[in-house]
Amino acid sequence: MSQIDGITREKWILGAFPEWGTWLNEEIDQEVVAPGTFAMWWIGCTGLWVKSENSTNIAIDLWFGNGKRSKKTTEMEKYHQMRNMTGGRMTQPNLRAAPVVYDPFAVTTVDAVLSTHYHNDHIDPFFAAAVLKNCAPDVPFIGPKKSVEKWLSYGVPADRCKTVVPGDVIKIKDCEIVILDSFDRTCLVTADEDIKGVCPTDMDEKAVNYLIKTPAGSIYHSGDSHYSTYYAKHGKDHKIDVALGSYGENPAGNQDKMTSVDVLRMAEALQCKVVIPFHYDVWTNFKADPAEITMLYEFKKYALDYKFVPFIWDVGGKFVYPNDMNKRQYHYRRGFEDCFTDEPNVPFRSIL
Ligand SMILES: [Fe+2]
Repeated sequence: MSQIDGITREKWILGAFPEWGTWLNEEIDQEVVAPGTFAMWWIGCTGLWVKSENSTNIAIDLWFGNGKRSKKTTEMEKYHQMRNMTGGRMTQPNLRAAPVVYDPFAVTTVDAVLSTHYHNDHIDPFFAAAVLKNCAPDVPFIGPKKSVEKWLSYGVPADRCKTVVPGDVIKIKDCEIVILDSFDRTCLVTADEDIKGVCPTDMDEKAVNYLIKTPAGSIYHSGDSHYSTYYAKHGKDHKIDVALGSYGENPAGNQDKMTSVDVLRMAEALQCKVVIPFHYDVWTNFKADPAEITMLYEFKKYALDYKFVPFIWDVGGKFVYPNDMNKRQYHYRRGFEDCFTDEPNVPFRSIL
């Protein structure tokens, strides 16, 4: 059989995806977190992996799917949240714009799986299945009622699921997870029926925010929350070190993601030390340039006496707190640290 005959689409897919293979899985597993610090990795969208100094691993909003892959369906479903929000019918061109940097099936250990809300880019059947197969038999799946319903629909056993509402506190090894209000108004109007004139009161069943308190500092994960004045209350009630907010360039007719102005207002209100935008990486139609946040920050920081700094990340990147708090911008490791270990294999030195 010629090589061409054995080359199949399936071989290409298995050879090329996930794009990073198990590189990041191995990095997270191997990471030794120094006392007085915590490490976290951006898995894409609002996916975040947190590892504490005592190796507590918490996975929030991990998701390994994608968006549109064909133009054949021309209209959104009748009650799709984006149709509810905008009144538009045309299929939104939300193609996945970021690589898959983590292999869910290669997960080896995790202490809690969290979801902020049940939208498809914040909860994942593949990761759930792999955690059930590969990890300890008591790893909890923690989320609001609607996220738990989704896990149950995948086949996650009910005794593994923990439904939470704002005000709840859950201890996971050396970490404490404080459940807080979500301000995700897109989630609020996600419904399967006509809701014109109906005032929804089920926010707490649909979405929550999380404060992850590690021994070395805290992380505020706001899911897909929009801007809210109540961030100031969360900032008064809790000591927040690092805050993450969903940022994006809203197409006309949309108010789904926070703008650069909103991200800075959120950070100021939360009284955090570092603010990190996320979610802007993943959808082609909401793609935004995070440098806009840095630019506005520089413009306003003296006048408003900002006490925080923004950090611009890359998907798959690591952030260690407090070590990286003033780093401002991530760059992937560039390698070649061991250059000239050997004499270069070149004809003569002057070619170098
Ligand atoms: Fe989302």
